[in-house]
Amino acid sequence: MTTLYFITGTSSGIGYALTNHILSTENNVLVEGVSRNQAIHHGNYKHHTFDLSEIDELIGFFGKIDLEKRIKNKIDKVVLINNAGTLGQVGHVGKIPSQDIVKTININTIAPFVLMNEFLHTFDNQTFGNIEKVIINVSSGAGKRPIDGWSAYCASKAGLNLFAEVVKEEEKILNQNTQIFNISVGVVDTNMQGEIRKTTENEFSSVEYFKELKNNNQLASPEFVAEKIYSIIEKPQDYEDIWQKLQ
Ligand SMILES: NC(=O)c1ccc[n+]([C@@H]2O[C@H](COP(=O)([O-])OP(=O)(O)OC[C@H]3O[C@@H](n4cnc5c(N)ncnc54)[C@H](OP(=O)(O)O)[C@@H]3O)[C@@H](O)[C@H]2O)c1
Repeated sequence: MTTLYFITGTSSGIGYALTNHILSTENNVLVEGVSRNQAIHHGNYKHHTFDLSEIDELIGFFGKIDLEKRIKNKIDKVVLINNAGTLGQVGHVGKIPSQDIVKTININTIAPFVLMNEFLHTFDNQTFGNIEKVIINVSSGAGKRPIDGWSAYCASKAGLNLFAEVVKEEEKILNQNTQIFNISVGVVDTNMQGEIRKTTENEFSSVEYFKELKNNNQLASPEFVAEKIYSIIEKPQDYEDIWQKLQ
């Protein structure tokens, strides 16, 4: 029996660490990765070079990737991990390009919405029986409170959280074998944090605090976060406990 993973943002940071963790831990897996750059090469990994801001290209995504030909073994579990994300241009509203707002919302919010919809449509009960489905959305504490300079980013994660909460309710009503988690991963030592530290105090008032976190080695490693996310996929019933340890 094989687990089939779809992971966005596999070229760096959390997505890269998580994909490597899965590929080195499990033999019976197929991982379909999405990002603009490819960083992982492995027999059980297939890369799809995609720009997630190109929303129209995502419609019918699972049909386009030639899935049936490659699923030789019967799959017993499918996992969608909406991890790709962008901070967008940091700065106060009125001083950031409108195009950047659109792009940030497309990548962080609309793309995961469309992928969740396509995923649940593709792996429906009629075609795949009551297959176990897991959806993980990599979210952020920024989706729960306002942070100056991060307007589109905060709103993108808030929208993602609520959409997923609705899907969770719907799947419950339909008695589906689906688990959905929005995971706030904390402050993680990735390129995104590097971008935050490059901003000025005029753009983001707490930039010095984030620089101190890095100087004091207070950032979680992507590998640590990847292991926690993987534990949630493996044991969704232990989510609360694992989540506490992420904070
Ligand atoms: N680092 C933190 O402290 C932190 C905290 C809370 C939440 N998060 C969330 O964690 C997730 C992963 O971020 P990270 O910290 O690991 O940052 P990262 O190292 O910058 O990784 C971002 C990933 O998203 C992909 N991506 C960005 N734009 C894309 C696009 N247009 N199309 C396709 N893929 C795209 C990138 O791939 P390409 O550039 O190759 O396309 C890359 O693989 C994000 O959702 C982020 O919001 C991070």
